[in-house]
Amino acid sequence: MLKFPNDFFWGAAASAPQTEGYSLSKGKSPSTWDQWFKLSPEKFYQNQGPTDTSNTYELYGEDIQRMAEMGMNSYRTSISWSRLLPDGRSVNTEAVSFYRAYFNNLNANGVEPIINLFHFDMPWWLMEKGGWETRESVEAFTFYAKTCFELFGDIVKYWTTFNEPIVHIECGYLYGFHYPAIQNFKKAVQVGYHTLIAHTSAVEAFRKSKREGKIGIILNISPSYARSEAENDQKAKENADLLNIKSFLDPCVWGEISQDLKILLKENNLLPKTQSNDIHLISQNTVDFIGLNYYQPRRVKAPEEYNTPAKMPEDFYAPYDWPGKKMNVYRGWEIYPKALYDVAIMIKEEYKNIPWFVSENGIGVSNEDRFMDENKVIQDDYRIEFIQDHLKELHKGIKDGSNCFGYHAWTFVDCWSWLNGYRNRYGFYRVDLENNYARSLKKSGLWYKELIKNNGF
Ligand code: BG6
Repeated sequence: MLKFPNDFFWGAAASAPQTEGYSLSKGKSPSTWDQWFKLSPEKFYQNQGPTDTSNTYELYGEDIQRMAEMGMNSYRTSISWSRLLPDGRSVNTEAVSFYRAYFNNLNANGVEPIINLFHFDMPWWLMEKGGWETRESVEAFTFYAKTCFELFGDIVKYWTTFNEPIVHIECGYLYGFHYPAIQNFKKAVQVGYHTLIAHTSAVEAFRKSKREGKIGIILNISPSYARSEAENDQKAKENADLLNIKSFLDPCVWGEISQDLKILLKENNLLPKTQSNDIHLISQNTVDFIGLNYYQPRRVKAPEEYNTPAKMPEDFYAPYDWPGKKMNVYRGWEIYPKALYDVAIMIKEEYKNIPWFVSENGIGVSNEDRFMDENKVIQDDYRIEFIQDHLKELHKGIKDGSNCFGYHAWTFVDCWSWLNGYRNRYGFYRVDLENNYARSLKKSGLWYKELIKNNGF
């Protein structure tokens, strides 16, 4: 039996915009997702928009009972910025009551709330002014963060600032999956930089608040593996890791932006606009812990030519179709559990063995009802196998000294996922879109319960 450390955090993760519902009512102003759906519903899978989420606004009480029943001792979700502060300044009291009741209920059931502040859901009023492209966004985010610490700091002890900042940067400013869906590398870097400063400024606000608790950031860490040992391919790997991993991990943990990254950006005329106090701000506001999201590795090779100045990340590294890869055929992502061991060791050796937890890991499956049996239970053995294989590697990493304190699956109840709507299901509970979002347990939920009970498998 593989046993995990005592008091290990077992749980699951989700986000406000993907679960709450009531996205245009109860005092909430539109986020960029609400507005984009209004403008271009055809971009969203089966026209499923942010109004179609799993209604935790009303159903959180019963969901928390299910979490407690499963034995979960922690759960991550987020606060919706545009629900709490509809115009950026005035507090929506209905939202305060909702979040307080929600977080109190988690605590009362022994489920530690880990609360994230930003999960891709920029308020529309701020996006209209340029969103993360503008320095004003830093000040607005800091005000929002401070407000959260004041309103909920007595009942929330684990905070994170951002979920996967690289994703809103690349999806919004390079690859077209998030609004404003433009392609501009220089802007993408500036957006990334403002996100980093907003993060550090929120950490500073948290420290100044003298609240009891810890603060971190959630990063998607897909380590890169090069096609070969050849210098050119290795350079591609270094470039990919610099842009996608070290860009946030270095300043968040070490308080410094990587010199190599600065050189790379400078050579390519991509350096962002900065302010003189930023270096100090970054150096003084490192995190207490890291949340690490891992789904699949990144396979890279050298591009045909290293073009300077680079116009897209693909000028720094090209995707490589590794012949030996095992695929999640239901989602189209590679399955490679060993990467979880590799990142566990990377954090131990290169990032001062900072405490960290797996904040997302899971398998998305399209058309999952095909696996429903005659009793209407989804027989998701592939999910059990996926999680188990990843946990084996995680366990090995912990045994070899990595300071990992928990594992959160994505996700508890199937949830809406941006342009993908409900295309890929990830939950331990199926959500029935035809029947008021009713939940039903999948086979993997029973397995996860047993795993938690035994603190291992
Ligand atoms: C993660 C995000 O990267 O991937 C989630 O943090 C998202 O918000 C999840 O829902 C799954 O994505 P998809 O596209 O497979 O539904």
